[in-house]
Amino acid sequence: MSTKAQQFIYLDHAATSWPKPQIVTEAVINAMLNDGANPGRGSHAMAVRASRILFDTRKHLAKLFNIKNPNDIAFTSNTTMSLNMAIKGWLKPGDHVISTMIEHNSVRRPLYCLEQSIGIEVTYIESDEQGNVSVEAIENAIKSNTTLIIVNHSSNLLGTILPVAEIGEAAQRHGVKLLVDAAQSAGIIPVDVQAMGIHMLAFPGHKGLLGPQGTGGLYIAPELELEPLLHGGTGSQSETPHQPLVRPDRYEAGTQNTSGLAGLQAGVKFVLNETVEKIQAKEWALAQRLMVGLSEIANVHILGPKIGEPRTGIVAFVVDGVDPSELSFILDQHYNIAVRAGFHCTPLAHTSAGTIETGAVRASVGIFTTQEEVDSLMLAIKEISQQYSQ
Ligand SMILES: Cc1ncc(COP(=O)(O)O)c(C=O)c1O
Repeated sequence: MSTKAQQFIYLDHAATSWPKPQIVTEAVINAMLNDGANPGRGSHAMAVRASRILFDTRKHLAKLFNIKNPNDIAFTSNTTMSLNMAIKGWLKPGDHVISTMIEHNSVRRPLYCLEQSIGIEVTYIESDEQGNVSVEAIENAIKSNTTLIIVNHSSNLLGTILPVAEIGEAAQRHGVKLLVDAAQSAGIIPVDVQAMGIHMLAFPGHKGLLGPQGTGGLYIAPELELEPLLHGGTGSQSETPHQPLVRPDRYEAGTQNTSGLAGLQAGVKFVLNETVEKIQAKEWALAQRLMVGLSEIANVHILGPKIGEPRTGIVAFVVDGVDPSELSFILDQHYNIAVRAGFHCTPLAHTSAGTIETGAVRASVGIFTTQEEVDSLMLAIKEISQQYSQ
């Protein structure tokens, strides 16, 4: 087993991206140093500059996701908060929701909470072993009380990409709203809320958009009225006890993460400049390289779509006879390679993939990952699997 000190290799981008582009760090520091007033809470010059940061961040996000009105984006702390805002703000007692077996716990748990607390009904559509979900199965599950379809744009375990535009068309045909969890697609796969028929888009700032942790957002289509998750100060209409109707104030009670959002803005600019299409192509090619290498190791089983098929830069796998947690520990301690092991907050997807007993190791590449880094992981897995099979 290799014990020589290797350069640190970060292959856990699906959890959060690292490192961030230099301009992101600089934007955070600059906002803290120079624009640290409370946005929307004053009319002095520094408060106006802070508000401008929020406005410009919304504008760039709107460009990226083809959102007509930037004020239809509410900032949140992460995808989980965005999903809670959408699910708890939209669903009413007696509503029926359709979701899938590849969802993250950040969808499954709020849904379970509402099943228990207010009495909603949820149907989880099966996926095949590779994470594919049939649009027809989703459409066939629509009932008279179905008000929402929730789909993961891309599985955080399998890397599978769902046909969101087709699901959007099916939802449209039946007058059902579509909520998309873009945790693994924002900045990684093209997202166009208008072309894809998306009514709500929950996205993180800290993954593919390369912003700091503690940033995220929810796009809410203009015709949708959600009950706000938080009620409180907005700096506007202070005389009324009601949460203002005007957006984004309606969904943004409390002081916002101005410096974090300055960083997010820089991250989105970086992504727009690189283009999502190029990022997607690069990450796909790295994933293919890793899969080809791993597939040549006898006792390795790769989850998700087959070599050559569409997927994101997520490659999860199991090695016969090696516990995934142990494998990730060895990679960390002996090879200086960071991956993630376990159930990845998605037990339903593990059920579909047949790994509910074992969990899996997940390697995920990012915009700065190199071929050499991917090759180092391959060699490490080869070495470890040989040791274990002796
Ligand atoms: C598909 C999916 N949804 C939701 C989340 C939760 O994201 P966050 O950590 O931004 O709350 C994740 C996190 O990895 C995810 O992969």
